[in-house]
Amino acid sequence: MTQIKCIGILTSGGDAPGMNAAIRAVTRSAIYSGITVKGIYRGYRGLITDEIVEFKTQNVSNIIQMGGTILKTARCKEFQTPEGRQLAYDVIKHEGIDALVVIGGDGSLTGARIFATEFNFPIVGLPGTIDNDLFGTDTTIGYDTALNTIMECVDKIRDTATSHERLFFIEVMGRDAGFLALNGAIATGAEAAIIPEISTEVDQLAELIQNGFRKSKNSSIVLVAESPITGGAMALAERVKKEYPGYDVRVTILGHLQRGGSPTAHDRILASRMGAAAVDALLEDQRNVMIGIRNDEIVYVPFSKAIKNDKPINRELLNTLRRLSI
Ligand code: F6P
Repeated sequence: MTQIKCIGILTSGGDAPGMNAAIRAVTRSAIYSGITVKGIYRGYRGLITDEIVEFKTQNVSNIIQMGGTILKTARCKEFQTPEGRQLAYDVIKHEGIDALVVIGGDGSLTGARIFATEFNFPIVGLPGTIDNDLFGTDTTIGYDTALNTIMECVDKIRDTATSHERLFFIEVMGRDAGFLALNGAIATGAEAAIIPEISTEVDQLAELIQNGFRKSKNSSIVLVAESPITGGAMALAERVKKEYPGYDVRVTILGHLQRGGSPTAHDRILASRMGAAAVDALLEDQRNVMIGIRNDEIVYVPFSKAIKNDKPINRELLNTLRRLSI
């Protein structure tokens, strides 16, 4: 059993609301157990360049309510090379770090997995991404906040869409996953969600759009997940305009505003529980696992499963959206 005296913590990849709550939880639960904590700035890049500071409990005061990440984040190309990872390992040894907690999405946990295997080094991951595309956890840190942001934005667009009797295509993030688009559509009473997991033909879509104009709303809203598979909102709008010139079509791309803002209670609690669980996992000699919460219980998900990119969309949700948009 490894004796862990010092944990390093970093955030990597796209930031997500709730990452600060997770940093706070890891720091405080580690200190509570007598373990030193070191904050690593700018993700894996900071590991290579040795941007590392010891964190005391006051370093994480007053951050639970803040969006973004106080540790900053980066997508580090150098860490993808064996030479870069060797440099990172040298810094880890020099800093006396015995284990890492990595908070990030798919790419970040893939990097963690490779590093942990290469150097036989203990790493526990936390799912930090608005995309919700990590397998083995019901939701990821940041997803609920992004969903609520989408809901607020779409509600506002509905006001103007109804006044002008327009059809809006609204593009939301999610990389290759449709969770934000599908649940965003249900939460806002949108007419349809176009997601990479399920193909929708243009004439099928036209029928759904027509539902919006038939209803008292007098407008139609389609949420489109960004993805090469859906083609994005702009391309879809062009196709619909060409085939159905009668519609007054507008496009809104919500973009990075979906990544900011104060985390919801759900994300703060999720991040706090997961952060504390990461320290427990390391003390139990777990490694190469991501912390998940399934059916309200903490679970350890091997990295290999979490990042396989096959978290399924719940088809019942799609059915619900269709039934409720008639
Ligand atoms: O993975 C999170 C995410 O916000 C995706 O939804 C999106 O495709 C991507 O990051 C955008 O990345 P960047 O901020 O580097 O443009």
